Amino acid sequence: MKAQFRKLAGEVRQSLRSGQLKAGDVLPSTRQLAAQWGVHRHTVMAAYEELVAEGWLESHPGQGYRVATDWVEAQAPAAHEEQFGWDFQEDLPAMAEIARPQARYRFPSGQPDLRIFPHEEYYGQVRQALRRCAADDLLGYSNPAGRPYFCEQLGHYLRRARGLKFSPEELVVTHGCQEAIYLVARCWLSPGAVVAVEEQGFAKTWEAFRCCGAELAPVQIDEQGIVPESLEQVFSSRKVRLLYLTPLHQYPTTVTLTPTRRQQVLQLAQQYQVPILEDDYDFEFHYQGTTQAPLKMQDTHGLVAYCSTFSKVLHPSARLGFVIAPAPLAQRVARLKTVVSRQNDNLAQEALAGWMAEGGFERHLRRMRRHYEARRRAMSQALAEWDPQPPIHLPQGGMCFWLDTGVDSQKLSELVRKDGVEVQPGAAYRLDGQPSQHLRLGFAHPTIQEIQEGLALLGRARATLL
Ligand SMILES: Cc1ncc(COP(=O)(O)O)c(C=O)c1O
Repeated sequence: MKAQFRKLAGEVRQSLRSGQLKAGDVLPSTRQLAAQWGVHRHTVMAAYEELVAEGWLESHPGQGYRVATDWVEAQAPAAHEEQFGWDFQEDLPAMAEIARPQARYRFPSGQPDLRIFPHEEYYGQVRQALRRCAADDLLGYSNPAGRPYFCEQLGHYLRRARGLKFSPEELVVTHGCQEAIYLVARCWLSPGAVVAVEEQGFAKTWEAFRCCGAELAPVQIDEQGIVPESLEQVFSSRKVRLLYLTPLHQYPTTVTLTPTRRQQVLQLAQQYQVPILEDDYDFEFHYQGTTQAPLKMQDTHGLVAYCSTFSKVLHPSARLGFVIAPAPLAQRVARLKTVVSRQNDNLAQEALAGWMAEGGFERHLRRMRRHYEARRRAMSQALAEWDPQPPIHLPQGGMCFWLDTGVDSQKLSELVRKDGVEVQPGAAYRLDGQPSQHLRLGFAHPTIQEIQEGLALLGRARATLL
């Protein structure tokens, strides 16, 4: 009855808005409408009474219900009125498409497997944080740059795991890397500024730069990462204001920038006085060889702003990330954050800080790394069974394969969708938007069985396109 009377009231409201019913009109009797809708009279009465309470209708004892005169006249837009034309400043990006959770075999790009996230253990930390902190401290406003306890634990962790040292005024906690990138961009770029980016990359960061009015200048990449000759060509031909880079696991190709090239990039940045925004989004997931230390560690000239995230190692909805930048930039980022999002959630910061202090976070990381490493191997084996076998580049780290399928990857992704397989075609990662034969195949999210079954279907679909 509840849902029915709401539905009915909605229908009457719609007739009022559209002008079908006018001020003073008598509404059908409750008996008539009940017969028309096949509902009980009480349902109609409940709907009418709700509309009376809202001021749409008037009830006249013995005469039924009428459309209220004053209210409707005041609310209904005159037919001849012109709509105000909103004249926006910039083209905003389209809404991100959220992956279809109903697909049976999903290989999302860089998404952790949240099905094996240790909920109980983590929520134990949430409960402890609630007990540990006074309510008006935990639930209130706090330092926009980050909770002191979280900043302290983060500092210990980053020093231990990544060798990063920084002072408190160089750190700002953000809502993931995305907010960090947007805030840095907004502080540093004026409309028309040129940002050098890898020619294939993460479109959401390009959108953050574009929202600040920046123009993007593509720099070539190859199997060793960004190409220094191409970077120099871009730096020498235009006034570049910022270089955005994913040196550890180039996004989307996953390759690691070689030590020699790191030196060259830093030298060029210094020579042309171009700051670097280093995006180190999945540092923890490296399986082969030693992990290259962040570029920020080699930065002796204060040119590098470093951002990272807990979206991959914890979960994306925690919206926890951070930027470490020279203090003048970090302080501006913190000030800007106060007007963009005010601060991060205190509870999320406290819970993670507690988990870090107690060692649980790093145990979780080790577990996830073992899972992902096994899945990486499984994906490599499943691809080796394709006929004919594609060239397989085994990623040293990260959460994805960057696979040259040898066919149009857009067509392939559409073809396998009917088999319940969801994959990301490479064109979405290209700044020029050109068609691509590559797929970015995430191995962190699917189980080994899903990898084997899903890739068998994908391999068969590919064979039909060759
Ligand atoms: C390269 C790269 N940078 C930044 C982000 C943003 O991550 P978040 O805002 O969730 O921290 C992502 C997310 O997938 C990414 O892949």
